[in-house]
Amino acid sequence: MKRIFSGIQPSGTITIGNYIGAMKQFVELQKDYECFFCIVDQHAITVPQDRIQLRKNIRSLAAMYIAVGIDPEKATIFIQSEVPAHAQAGWMLQCVTYIGELERMTQFKDKSQGKEAVVAGLLTYPPLMAGDILLYNTDLVPVGEDQKQHLELTRDIAERFNKKYNEIFTIPDPRITEVGARIMSLQDPTKKMSKSDPNQKAFISMLDDPKQIEKKIKSAVTDSEGIVQYDKENKPGISNLLSIYSIFSGEAIPDIVQKYDGKGYGEFKEELAQVVIDALSPIQAKYYELINSNQLDEILDSGRDRANHIASKMVRKMENAMGLGRKRK
Ligand code: TYM
Repeated sequence: MKRIFSGIQPSGTITIGNYIGAMKQFVELQKDYECFFCIVDQHAITVPQDRIQLRKNIRSLAAMYIAVGIDPEKATIFIQSEVPAHAQAGWMLQCVTYIGELERMTQFKDKSQGKEAVVAGLLTYPPLMAGDILLYNTDLVPVGEDQKQHLELTRDIAERFNKKYNEIFTIPDPRITEVGARIMSLQDPTKKMSKSDPNQKAFISMLDDPKQIEKKIKSAVTDSEGIVQYDKENKPGISNLLSIYSIFSGEAIPDIVQKYDGKGYGEFKEELAQVVIDALSPIQAKYYELINSNQLDEILDSGRDRANHIASKMVRKMENAMGLGRKRK
């Protein structure tokens, strides 16, 4: 069976952008692939985190993975820092990655811009991510569009390692959906929706209540035309809302456009809010049931053991290929 790996940072409450770009795909793919879904807490500490909040976010993300429909019997859900192979692989891969390649990453440029002191981890983030993926002989990596560049670098690093040392890595392919690969901010539709946006109105969290959802959609930035139409270039706000509508309702964008022909943004936004509320409420109910149960620890323990078993073998292979330590099987 082909393998899938993907990860999400526990750096805030998951947004509908993370859900649409990544998690929703995870749920669909788990039927046909052997899946590993990781809570990448080591990536999260490349920017400042409050330790109490981080621990909460890790647990919250684990519950959310399951609440959206990932079946822990089928897929392996685990925490990155609990499987030492990730940090070990990250280090070895840093030693086959060029600084120039890392400095070209747009995520690094965005996050380091204007900062006086930038931690080294922010720069060396991609080889850790490459390690996550390559440890599991991953075939496919479902992600949103913003991770495409990191995936390309992962492939380059894997190919370089294979050529220089030994052919041990599978070269992974990204899997990016057409609609929803980049959900935009509700306040600035030219920017991606991000869980770390200081403006709470810019994103809808998976745990927002109906009132918050209504309010945020109502105040979403659109344009002054008053015509519900899909045109990313000239109507980024409305186009973004149409994508969200389409994904949560299952209706095709042209059908939605037709439904709102001659109607204003007010009505469209009101009904969109209801569509989002209806889609999120069963997920939230499941989430609150899980977060208060001890089922979560059992799932994370067995996920860690399964991941560890596979990843530690790959670390051994990498060490043998590079000549580290003493020869072992
Ligand atoms: P992160 O935590 O920023 O985001 C998690 C996933 O959500 C997607 N995403 C979006 N998709 C559509 N619209 C948006 N506005 C939006 N915002 C986020 C992301 O593309 C991602 O798929 N570096 C990764 C985490 C990572 C990882 C990995 C991913 C670490 N190791 C290995 C895949 C494989 C990140 O920061 O994702």
